[in-house]
Amino acid sequence: MQTADRPRVGVYPGSFDPPTNGHLDIIRRATRVVNKLVVAVAVNPSKDAMFTIDERVEIVRAEIAAINNDLSSRVEVRSFEGLLMQYVRDVGATIIVRGLRAVTDFDYEFQMTGMNARLDPEIETVFLMASESHQFISSRLVKEVGMLGGTVAPFVSSAVAKRLVARIAERKAGKR
Ligand code: PNS
Repeated sequence: MQTADRPRVGVYPGSFDPPTNGHLDIIRRATRVVNKLVVAVAVNPSKDAMFTIDERVEIVRAEIAAINNDLSSRVEVRSFEGLLMQYVRDVGATIIVRGLRAVTDFDYEFQMTGMNARLDPEIETVFLMASESHQFISSRLVKEVGMLGGTVAPFVSSAVAKRLVARIAERKAGKR
């Protein structure tokens, strides 16, 4: 089959701990660039995760389903472990999608993209600039704001905000 005839499959990898409005915006916009998008939730983020891998997959799925049905039919959410480039090949994707916010993201993304390109030069990483209103949202800061008693409502969906507040309360009570 000619490359042009093949459905363009992209992988959007990340920790999604938890997914923010910024992640959802990238997912929505990535579906304009690829025919099918696999949102790949990393099993082992280097950081201490607030949510388990099963919880993160379930939360991202629910978030996508809440956006609209058309999106759900073209977006799959799966967990992945190990080398990203191997996973991208395994699912038959040719594109990695990453969101880019402030200039501080650049160094990390630059290194990761360079390394990934060395591992497989056939797979392209495509960056989508975060929309203006999402420039400063990160899962790490959302968790920090929540832990310190601030409101997370402007940065995540109401479903995620509820789960995050509940998890933080559990953690503070020493249950997690
Ligand atoms: O949301 P994050 O934490 O920025 O996502 C980072 C992620 C999961 C994309 C990155 O850590 C990754 O690709 N992990 C898989 C392991 C791997 O392939 N490492 C080599 C990267 S050059």
